[in-house]
Amino acid sequence: MGLLRKHTLVMDIRDRILDIFETEPGNRCSGEKLRKALGVSRAAVWKHIEGLREEGYLIEAAPAIGYRFAGKRDILSARSITRRLTTGMLGREVRFFKETTSTNAVAMSLAAEGAPEGTLVAADSQTSGKGRLGRQWASPEGRNLYFSIVLRPAIPPSKAYLVTVMSSVALTAVIRREFGVAAGIKWPNDLLVNGRKLAGVLTEMKAETDRVESVVLGVGINVNWRNEDMPGEIRTIATSLSDSAGREISRLDLLAWFLEEMERLYCGAQEMGFDASCLMEDWRGYSCTLGRAVRIRVFGKVLEGIAENVDDDGRLLVNTGKGIEVVSAGDLEIL
Ligand code: BTN
Repeated sequence: MGLLRKHTLVMDIRDRILDIFETEPGNRCSGEKLRKALGVSRAAVWKHIEGLREEGYLIEAAPAIGYRFAGKRDILSARSITRRLTTGMLGREVRFFKETTSTNAVAMSLAAEGAPEGTLVAADSQTSGKGRLGRQWASPEGRNLYFSIVLRPAIPPSKAYLVTVMSSVALTAVIRREFGVAAGIKWPNDLLVNGRKLAGVLTEMKAETDRVESVVLGVGINVNWRNEDMPGEIRTIATSLSDSAGREISRLDLLAWFLEEMERLYCGAQEMGFDASCLMEDWRGYSCTLGRAVRIRVFGKVLEGIAENVDDDGRLLVNTGKGIEVVSAGDLEIL
């Protein structure tokens, strides 16, 4: 039997075991019942139960009954993600890596090979996580979310920035709604809490002159990474959702909620022809930049002033006291 086929069968059996537990009263089931339902030997049932335990599923021996499914640790895997998602399009295919170079790099290759829209690439850690402006994105294992989504919006390249806008709006909405954490968007699309960075978005694109072929939306969120565990240079500028909310956060729930919100906005935008004014209005509502004194480094030049507004092309309008400067890219510091 081919390796891939054998692997797929193992996946199917383990999913079926979880399905059975979920339909049994009290999530309890005997080994014999599982064996019969799956058509495999008792030893095979035991082996798959062990496999599921290693994946983080809590399956206890229940005296006189057999097994009891008692929940799941917050361990990411293709299975745990697929089982948790409620979206129709985003995450319709999931690729998961315990470790990879960069989920954006993997998603870009998959997009070039024709991966369908909505393909989700997620990792538990990255060895070369990419940030904006050529920076690195620190990606320690087991604590945070690092994922990329392949999108194929029917828009010209000049409108691709709206995907980034949409994602920062979706993430801010979810973080405020689900955790009561006052996250805000720092231009262009960083998520901050109390002036510290919580999450970042990096969008990469392949396009022809007048048509986007694919957009890879990469999102990194500091979830359960405690400030005291961050390396020195990051500790002073970053925060995590658990530190802000004061409790451990389920990465699976956060990922699922974000994808639901993003799908809602993305499908809505498609129906509205990616109307920039609508999306930028949402962005302005969540901004923690507008009205503030800022310093921006743009191609070696430093500019200071008050961030007055963003236009519908996502450009920042800065009042320097001598006039309005229109800034389309750069590194912004809130003063
Ligand atoms: C930023 O500089 O604020 C953007 C950070 C984006 C990081 C994420 S982590 C998942 C995806 N893969 C990467 O290599 N980068 C993005």
